Parts: sequence; C-alpha cells; structure tokens
Amino acid sequence: MKKIDICLSPDLIHQYDLASTVVVVIDILRASSSITTAMAHGVKAIRPVESLSECRELKLKGHIGAAERGGKKVGGFDMGNSPFSFMNPELEDTKIALTTTNGTITLKKSKGALQVIIGSFLNYSALLAYLERLPCDLLLHCAGWKGTVNLEDTLFAGAIIYGLKQMFEYNSDVPLMALNLYKIAKNDLKSAIQDSSHVARLMNLGLEKDIDFCLKFDEYKVIPVLKGNYITKMKLPDMLF
Ligand code: MLT
Repeated sequence: MKKIDICLSPDLIHQYDLASTVVVVIDILRASSSITTAMAHGVKAIRPVESLSECRELKLKGHIGAAERGGKKVGGFDMGNSPFSFMNPELEDTKIALTTTNGTITLKKSKGALQVIIGSFLNYSALLAYLERLPCDLLLHCAGWKGTVNLEDTLFAGAIIYGLKQMFEYNSDVPLMALNLYKIAKNDLKSAIQDSSHVARLMNLGLEKDIDFCLKFDEYKVIPVLKGNYITKMKLPDMLF
C-alpha cells in the first residue's frame, strides 16, 4: 500500500527518501497560500530563491522581486509575501522571484522528489483530488519557523490526512498526530491557531486579514508545481497518473 508521512520541519528532511515520493510543500502563513493565489491570478511563473541577493539579482534581470523576512516586506523589493499582493492584475503573465523566511527554503530542500507541489487551504479540494489518485508515496513537508515546528502547517497536514481517508498507510506516528490535531481544531481553525507564534507576529504587523484569507478552504482550483527552478500552474501533462 502507498505510504504517507509528514516532515514537520525542513531541518528534518534528511530523514526522508524523496526519490519516489511526491512532496507537498506547506507554508500556510503565508508562502504556499500566496503562491497558490498567484497561480490562480495569472502569474506566469515564480522562482523561489533562498537569499535576498539571489532575489535582487533576478529583479535586475527583469523579474518582479518579492521578499519577506519575519513577516515583513523587505525594503528595495517590489512586494512582500501577502496573498493580496499576488492578486494584482498587473502581475498577470509576469515572472516573480520570491524569497521568504521559511517557505522558499522548504521548496529548495524538497528538490530531488518525484514531484514537488504546493498545498494550502485555498486549493485544498483540488489538491486532495490529485493526491488520492497518485500511485506513489506522499510526503507533506511543513515549512515551520526557522527549523522549528509550527501549528498551522501541522494542522493543514492533518487536514490532508483527514481528507485522504486512509487511502495511504501511515509511515510514522506523525500523520496520526496531525490528524488528531485537525479533528480537534477543524470546526474553528482560527481559534485553534490564535495563540501561535506566527499569528502573533502577523497580528502585530496588522495582517489579520492575511490570516483570515489563508484559512479559507477552496478559494481556488489550481495546483502549483515546481518544475526545474520555476513554479507554474499544474497542467494535464504534469499529472503523474
Ligand atoms: C514563511 O516563509 O515562513 C512565511 O511565508 C512568512 C510570511 O510570509 O509571513
């Protein structure tokens, strides 16, 4: 039976064999939510990069530069990492270079997988419909915060486990932990995460609307997929079944 597991932090990714696995990168607040929003609003491609210098170089080469650190937009770049910024119609058909505190590192550390896709509450049902038909193992890769585990990404991983309804064998106790966490929280996710560290950070920055939006189910039907150095909207030929 195909297996599913959850890696709670990119600092633990060395424990997992990615070669025959589809990896779902999860950074609910806010990278995977913003990337999903961008793909749904016609952005042509996103190049996730680890450093500000790489992002700056790509900006000089004609990419839109999007940079976030500690939840804040970095000065000298075109935008930060709010999903609302990625709804801008002027971004349609553009290429964006993106660097965030945790999400872009998590994407980089997922390379080597059979396929790397991006999951959020915003594309939850579309993601489940794809994952349940895959013939291979799955790894849900949570961005966390600077190597530590965070609540919102773990909760979303639990939501995926919940939605897949035993179609995959659990490869460790982590899927069961995340599932039980989600079962407790699912009727009021915002209350469940209200005391979490990143919610506090974003609330202090006046970004409650970002939190509310990133907790919405099924705003979009797109699945972002990392192909080479760029994230694009998944198309039929990208599907592994
Ligand atoms: C992250 O990389 O952890 C998040 O995207 C940070 C944020 O956007 O607040």
